[in-house]
This record gives sequence, structure tokens and C-alpha cells, in this order.
Amino acid sequence: LNVLVLAGGISHERDVSLRSGRRVADGLQAHGHRVTMREPDAELLAYLRTERPDVVWPALHGASGENGALRALLAASGVPYVGAEPEAARVAWLKPIAKTVVARGGVRTPQSVTLPRETFRELGANAVLSTLRDYLGAPLVVKPSQGGSAQGVTIVDDEAELPRAMVTAYTYADVALLERKIVGTEIAVTVLDLGDGPQALPAVEIAPNHGVYSFEARYNAGETHFFTPARLSPEVAERAARVAVDAHNALGLRHISRVDLIVDAEGTPWFLEANVLPGLTETSLVPLAIQAAGFDLGAVYVGLAEQAIR
Ligand code: DAL
Ligand code: MG
Repeated sequence: LNVLVLAGGISHERDVSLRSGRRVADGLQAHGHRVTMREPDAELLAYLRTERPDVVWPALHGASGENGALRALLAASGVPYVGAEPEAARVAWLKPIAKTVVARGGVRTPQSVTLPRETFRELGANAVLSTLRDYLGAPLVVKPSQGGSAQGVTIVDDEAELPRAMVTAYTYADVALLERKIVGTEIAVTVLDLGDGPQALPAVEIAPNHGVYSFEARYNAGETHFFTPARLSPEVAERAARVAVDAHNALGLRHISRVDLIVDAEGTPWFLEANVLPGLTETSLVPLAIQAAGFDLGAVYVGLAEQAIR
């Protein structure tokens, strides 16, 4: 195959994308495919029209590749591409909307509120705090309503930390999502469809050395300990796998996704978000899951490209 791997972009996750793209390109090349790597720049559509690669492998994270805009351009080009179609990507990208869609399908997701920057500014932190207190107390997780790699995310254990957490979230998005913090085991479930329908790979359990799976804990080797498969009973692991596939399907995702869940003390998985194009770097979760399932990374990246063409 003649594959165009897109990597980089202008999102907050540009560097992560460059690392993911390199790994995908290496995997494809190891299986004898011809790979061109490119930035998703303004010339992309013209490039696709003239070069006509067999397939595009968009190893792009964040707004560059997960919010649906670039995917709409790929769809318009007529060249097949790996991963979700534009509309589904858009829905998954907007965390509050994704939560609503998934909850409608019967999956649990932590109680939450969204707060636009303007509203926060108008009401002031004190009014927001007293309103919230009746509905959603600490501990909370405050995050930008869109984005990835835990950028702009704060765990708020004490109300006094809320104003700063809000400001941090607003540096990444105009709307903040305030979510009840579920205490439990953080897991990531990769959902893969290589032609036989979406299947959940073994869950990866995330145990950051310093408590929080922050940006630093994600991309510095050794900062986080992973258990693959996650230390869950077979029944709970099965439940988590089912929830992940249900979420993937409810959101209408395609080929691959990574569904992030917290499993509480009762063994109930809570949906946090679904990633349209999850990280594929050397410290990322999806490669761990693929290898734990006994698959070769390159073979899976090829398989996804073939799925796109089919
Ligand atoms: N947003 C990062 C790339 C991830 O999902 O792994
Ligand atoms: Mg994410």
C-alpha cells in the first residue's frame, strides 16, 4: 500500500502526534508498505487530489485530528482514511456531549456540569461555588470540555482550589467540565475493529507514581506503572470490555478508539471519555493493549489501513 501518515498539526498535542506518527510509519514500513509522512497543512487537499495515496493514516491528536474538521476534509478528498468519520469524531471530541450520548445508551458516567468561561466570569467564583455545593461537591475533576493528554485537568479535593482549576481549564477551552470524581481504578480499553466488528482488547490499568496521570506522567517513561491486563476480576474485566464497546458503538466510532473508564469499588465502570485517535507513542496505552492481546503493532496499523480501504 501507498500510505500517507499525517502527524504534527497545530493542536496542543502536536509533539505527541509526531511521536505517534513515527511509530505508525515504522510499523507500516516494517510490513513492506510505502509511507509518506506529512503535516496536515493548507496544501493537504491539493496534495491528496494529485498524489492519490491508497489510504491516509491520520496519527493526529487533539483538534488537529480528533474534532472532525480534518476528517471532513479527508472525506471530501475521496481518499479512504483510518478512524472515525467527521460527525462521530465531533461528538466524541466534545466530552459533555459524548457523556450524554453514552449515558443514553445505559453506560454510567460521572455526574457533571459544564460552565462556559463567560458565565464563570459573570457569576464569579463564589456564586459558582455556592451553586455547585448543592449539586456537585468536592472532590471534583475540572477539565476543558475538549482536548487530550490531561492538559488543563485538575483534581479539586478542596473547594478553595476551584477558581484556579477553572482558569487552568479555560486556557484550553471556552467551556469547563466539572465532574464528580469517582474513586477507583483508572483503566483504558482499546476498541479495535479489524473486520469482525469492534472488539475490546485487554484493559490497561494506570497507576501513576505520583497519583495523577498528568501530561508528564503520560509521556515520560517510568512515570507511570501499567498493569496489562488490569487487575480486575474476570467478571469486572468483562463488564468493562462491554461498556467500552457499547460506548464506541453509541458514539458511532470506527476502526479504533480508546475508552477511558474508572472502575469503582463495586466494580462498576464509569465512562470518562472516548479517544478518536488515541496516543500510539512508546509510552502510550494502546500499544500496550495491542501487544498484550498478542498482536504485532505494525500488523494492526496495516490492518486498520486495510479496513479503511475495504
Ligand atoms: N490524547 C492522547 C493522545 C491519548 O488519547 O492518548
Ligand atoms: Mg483523551
